[in-house]
Amino acid sequence: MKTMLLSSLALCGALAASFAAADERGMEAAGLQLFKHHCTACHSLDTSENAFGPSLVGVVGRPAASVPRFAYSQAMQASGLTWDEDNLRKWITDNEALVPGTRMRHVAITDPAEQDYLISFLRTLK
Ligand code: HEC
Repeated sequence: MKTMLLSSLALCGALAASFAAADERGMEAAGLQLFKHHCTACHSLDTSENAFGPSLVGVVGRPAASVPRFAYSQAMQASGLTWDEDNLRKWITDNEALVPGTRMRHVAITDPAEQDYLISFLRTLK
């Protein structure tokens, strides 16, 4: 009885882990759709290219205004920010509030679930 209980617990653990992985992929896919809709007009999905906006490859954890050869605004260069999850959330909620004077057009993605999706997608850009 005890072994049955233990093995079904182990099975549950394995299932939960694979659901979590599927969930993560689902979030990334949803994030890609949001990114295409809201961001690709200015940010290239092509790995290292700068478009109207800087390349976002490797952006999670990167200091602001650190892509070479991109003409950032003075405001962004002086921001002293690092693009951790918290700052990315603030940025896509209201970028002009986070960095007044930025050259990036105003975006307002306020739904926390959409923010989660976008950030999990940004993590895949390596
Ligand atoms: C209308 C064009 C445009 C759109 C749309 C846009 N961006 Fe930007 N983005 C820019 C520009 C231009 C900059 C540089 C801003 C500056 O220097 O002040 C920038 C900067 C950034 C940065 C800082 C990068 C760095 O290297 O410091 C992040 C992060 C970012 N954008 C994310 C996004 C996301 C996510 C979306 C979609 C929700 C988005 N942007 C939509 C033009 C855009």
